[in-house]
Amino acid sequence: SIENFLALQEFIPMFLQGIKNTLLLSIIGIFFGIILGMILSLFRLSRFRILRGISLIYLEFFRCTPLMVQAFFIFFAPPELFGIKFSPFYAGAIAMSLNSAAYVSEIIRSGINSVDKGQMEASRSLGLSYGKTMRYVIIPQAVKNILPTLGNEFVAIIKETSTLTVIGAAEVMYTTDRVKASSFQTTAPIIVAMVIYFVITFTLSRVIAYFERRMKVSD
Ligand code: ARG
Repeated sequence: SIENFLALQEFIPMFLQGIKNTLLLSIIGIFFGIILGMILSLFRLSRFRILRGISLIYLEFFRCTPLMVQAFFIFFAPPELFGIKFSPFYAGAIAMSLNSAAYVSEIIRSGINSVDKGQMEASRSLGLSYGKTMRYVIIPQAVKNILPTLGNEFVAIIKETSTLTVIGAAEVMYTTDRVKASSFQTTAPIIVAMVIYFVITFTLSRVIAYFERRMKVSD
């Protein structure tokens, strides 16, 4: 009933803290995910086999193991292996960034692949080098496919940060567990968490859809 929710009022500051950490983890994750993902993509396009090999192994490893296991590993393994300990927040941020990089590099690859191959052929036959063709012809067109998909990756990441509760990163799901314990309630705190995630990701996906439409217009 409504009383169940009213009783949760005293936990609003905790939820706000959780929202802050969820957003921080997501922003850090997408930021370093994009940087690392671009590096991986460069490796992937490189003429050196060894770099292509590294990016392929990285990609398959991070996409073929669960984020939850990766988070556990980054939280628990470094203290035992190297004597370095990350806080739950930092371990979570690292896991999210490394994981997202693999997905981002796939987004970049498919964005580049989606540019008609006639563009490369035409530009090369006009005498532009491979590098210049990439820079001035292929990449500018690829960006239009890449940007909206990166937006979707950001939305996905926001939801995925909930996984990081398993190592104790104090995001929304972690907050929800604590509120459940302190309030002796289960359903109401979970509904609050659902609403929080929904509002954040729904708002963001509307914003992305808006920019997507504007980019189509500029075609
Ligand atoms: N939940 C899945 C996993 O555990 C998907 C992770 C998705 N990650 C991403 N950056 N989109 O691996």
